[in-house]
Amino acid sequence: MRLLETEAAARLGEAREGFSRAALSAVYGPEAVAAADRGDYRALLAQCGDDRLGVWTRLFVIGAPVPAEAAAAAFAPLGLDEAVGCGLLAADRDAVTAGWGAQFDGDRLLFSDQLPNTTGGRTREHVLGIGGASKLLLDLAVRDTAGNALGNALDLGTGSGVQALALAARGLSVTATDLSGRALAFAALNAAVNGLDLELLQGDLLEPVAGRRFDLVVANPPFVVATPGGGWTYRDGGRAADGVAAELAAASTGLLRPGGTMQFLANWLHVRGRDWSERVAGWFPEEGARVWAVEREVLDPLDYVRTWQRDSGESHDADQAADWLDWFEANEVDGVGFGFVGVRRIDGPTEVVCEEARHAVETPWSDRVEDWFATRERPVEPEALWESRLRVADGVALQQTAVLGGEGWDVDRQWLQQSHGMRYAEAVDPVVMAFMGACDGRAEVRLQVQLLAETYGAEPAMLYAQLYPVLRRLVERGFLRLA
Ligand SMILES: C[S@@+](CC[C@H](N)C(=O)[O-])C[C@H]1O[C@@H](n2cnc3c(N)ncnc32)[C@H](O)[C@@H]1O
Repeated sequence: MRLLETEAAARLGEAREGFSRAALSAVYGPEAVAAADRGDYRALLAQCGDDRLGVWTRLFVIGAPVPAEAAAAAFAPLGLDEAVGCGLLAADRDAVTAGWGAQFDGDRLLFSDQLPNTTGGRTREHVLGIGGASKLLLDLAVRDTAGNALGNALDLGTGSGVQALALAARGLSVTATDLSGRALAFAALNAAVNGLDLELLQGDLLEPVAGRRFDLVVANPPFVVATPGGGWTYRDGGRAADGVAAELAAASTGLLRPGGTMQFLANWLHVRGRDWSERVAGWFPEEGARVWAVEREVLDPLDYVRTWQRDSGESHDADQAADWLDWFEANEVDGVGFGFVGVRRIDGPTEVVCEEARHAVETPWSDRVEDWFATRERPVEPEALWESRLRVADGVALQQTAVLGGEGWDVDRQWLQQSHGMRYAEAVDPVVMAFMGACDGRAEVRLQVQLLAETYGAEPAMLYAQLYPVLRRLVERGFLRLA
């Protein structure tokens, strides 16, 4: 299926030249653009005329009609009949409106079924625009993997091609797959409009790339859990429960070249009496994966059902909600976690770290992911740490709370707080605090422990045995750096 032949799509690309966020800011002012981002179009409406930029802005930013004559001029060298014929524009007497949406991702413009300034009213084959989940994955995708030059990449469930084109723009050779022919048609169109190349393959999840390996795999897959009736291609992967994520995890090591990275967004069940991290850890092969799974939020079943019913415009369907909630209850599901998973292909047994991070971290997330893998590539063994020098990382502060006691303020809690990176907080006891106070990168850990042991009248080996797991964790979480 094609929406426009490649040659016509290239003419659409020509017509689009000059329609960019930078042009909107320069011509209408950054305040007008910022207001439009919040849904206040007054400043744009007051300024947009019948010139090319004005027409494209009215159609694709504001979602307003424009006179057919002005549209014909603004879409040349693409004919108005071609634009209407493929569905890009909808004709209504002497005016046209947008039939597709168009959104910016950096310098690129992506067409999709997501109409400007509109929610709901989706068909089951709806091809998503750039939403919150798309932006999260764009932000997460690593720029470099374990020192390997990034060669080829895979985007599973590409939709309009937003992830695939971002990777292609970075110079990667990109394969993009989708079950939906309409999604692949948008991806092909968007590649041509933006002058980029993609290999596009149609099929179910991993089937189109069986036997192939990549340096980077990204997926914002159809992860919604167990929709009764299913059938919303953009969000229901046709697997029971959280089976899409389980299938991607199981396939991860087979999809990656050595040192390669896979990153996907996921939902996972919180089953009564079980830790979610056991469930997620159980999805991976026993060998070859280093995994970081981060849970950003958990919704209880009712909030989950209401959220996805709103998304598809089915909030009115009480029977559907009841079936869905019954399914959660019958499967003893107390909540659904939303997060993302990073997998690096390693030699040796699989290691999985699952953590909950609800707070705002320093973005881009890709830096956090790269830091996380880089830290784990240099394991902190007891002998090596004993001989090493440590320094407190930049931006780490010690914070305390105190209560007024008989002899003045008594510190009752103290913790380390990062102002950068993951912005972790970590409780510390007075011995660790004293140790860290001397971590300026000059003395070896061995010497520091010996001095501390003298102060506390302790045996150095015993003290080190106690300190080691704490220090290791502080290094792994970026509070302490190896000098
Ligand atoms: C949430 S959208 C993501 C779109 C885009 N990658 C993004 O980041 O915005 C999921 C995509 O997966 C596709 N999809 C659904 N079921 C699939 C399946 N079983 N195999 C492959 N792709 C599937 C949908 O057509 C849709 O384009």
